[in-house]
Order: sequence, then structure tokens, then C-alpha cells
Amino acid sequence: MIPKLIRLARSAPKDRPLAWDRYWAGIRGTGSGDEVLWDSGTDHEFLGYKDVLVRYLDPGLPVVDVGCGHGSFTRALAEVFPEVIGVDVSANAVAHASAQAAADGTPAGGSAGCIRFEARDMTRPGAAEGLAGEGGANVFIRGVLHVLDPADQAALVENLRLLTGSRGTVFLAETNFQGNPVEYVSHLGATARKIPAPLERAIRGLPMPGHFGPEERSRALPPETWELLVDGEVAIETHPLTGIDGQSRVPGYFAVLRPRA
Ligand SMILES: C[S@@+](CC[C@H](N)C(=O)[O-])C[C@H]1O[C@@H](n2cnc3c(N)ncnc32)[C@H](O)[C@@H]1O
Repeated sequence: MIPKLIRLARSAPKDRPLAWDRYWAGIRGTGSGDEVLWDSGTDHEFLGYKDVLVRYLDPGLPVVDVGCGHGSFTRALAEVFPEVIGVDVSANAVAHASAQAAADGTPAGGSAGCIRFEARDMTRPGAAEGLAGEGGANVFIRGVLHVLDPADQAALVENLRLLTGSRGTVFLAETNFQGNPVEYVSHLGATARKIPAPLERAIRGLPMPGHFGPEERSRALPPETWELLVDGEVAIETHPLTGIDGQSRVPGYFAVLRPRA
């Protein structure tokens, strides 16, 4: 399997925003079918986060879903919080997310219970500007930090600090698989004979992900500047590729943090 993996991974664009936008351009429809590797197709994982979100996030503030992709978690958030904004570096992801929200009839912009989407590179200085009002915003971020290198993680976290202001809270959930890339793709169902299509599409088009756990969190969001309110292990649920239950769950990490004044 290793030569095939190397061959596939070599074809991914080195420019990460471009890689993401091309990946999303290749997803048919709104991406809510069975093509997106990290979409389990159910709200089971989100429901596991719901109590923590309700407990720690101020409902008077908007929630910004940073790196929202095709918006499946953004839509779930809009069922709990009055105003949700999905932001992604890929304009194609934002187009998928907006189309699905419109198809669902979720109100866009301006009123309570609304959802809207914007294309922004959240590692760019000042990318947080204008996303939230004076009170700041809460942040939901799933599966994004582990795909960024440490410099981009630091740049993105600077935007999270600006977004949250004095009242906002960050909820993050990331994969934290301890193993090399071959072990990772094998866990997800790749064998020497076959790589399932959604996984092959991700390997072919995207940078190989890393992992993000307590160590990476304390480097990217250091305790001197971020107060850790709660953290723990979670299972990140992916699209079932093999019919073997455990293979569609990736060991993950969640944390809830607030910036220190
Ligand atoms: C693994 S996907 C997760 C998508 C979504 N959060 C979910 O859980 O379904 C990572 C997402 O992060 C987005 N992304 C990557 N780099 C980004 C950046 N610099 N700014 C904003 N979004 C980014 C990608 O386009 C992609 O949609």
C-alpha cells in the first residue's frame, strides 16, 4: 500500500487553500451525500457535544463555525443557537454549505435563528474582522487545527482571540490519532487491495493531516493566554467506509477555552 499512498499523496497541491478549494470543487451536489470522508451522515457526534456547548457558550453571542466545510455542523449548531456563521477558506465549500442551508429552508442573515456562510482564510491577519459584533462571538471548530501546520495554527488562534473578545468561548474537536499515515488510512479502511473512494479522494487532493491533542492544544492555545474550562477524549465520526463499526470512529480530543483578559 505504501507506494500507492506516496503516489496519491504526491498529486495533492502544495498550496493548502488551493488544495481545499479543488477538493470541494470536486464534491458533487451539496456534499451531503456519501462523498465527504469526515461526514458520518448522522448528528450523533454533534449530539454528544450539545450539553457542553449549551453549558459553556453564551447564547447571546453568534457562533462562528471556523472551517465549516459543507456546513453539516453549522446547520446542527443553528438548531441550538440563534445566530450561526460558517466560515471556510474554500469558496466552493461555502457554496455547498449555502446551497444545503437554502434547501433546508434555514433563514439566512439578519434574524434570530439564522445561518450564513463566508469564504475567509482564517490564518490571514485580520480575518476575524467584521464577523462578530462588539460583544464578540463563540467559536466552534472541528477537524481544522489538525490539518494546519503549527505556524498556521498560531495565526488562526490569533483570529480566534480577536473573535471571542471578552465574552466568547472556543469549543474545539479534533482527531488525535496516534500513528503514522499508513496506520491512519488503514484504520479508516484502506487495504493493500483497495482504498475506499472518499478516502482516496482525500489522500489524492489534500495535505496529509496531523493530530491535535492536549500537547498541541497547550502549544497553540497556551495556558498563560487561554483558560482551559474542560477537555477530554471524543470519537470523531467519519463516513462508514467498511461496515466495521470501529473503523469509522477516529480517536479525538475536545476542549473548551476562553481567552484570558
Ligand atoms: C476536515 S474539514 C472539516 C470541515 C468541517 N469543520 C466538518 O467538521 O465537517 C477541514 C475544513 O477546514 C477548511 N480550512 C482549511 N484551512 C482553512 C483556513 N485557513 N481558513 C478557513 N478554513 C480552512 C477546509 O476548507 C475544510 O473545509
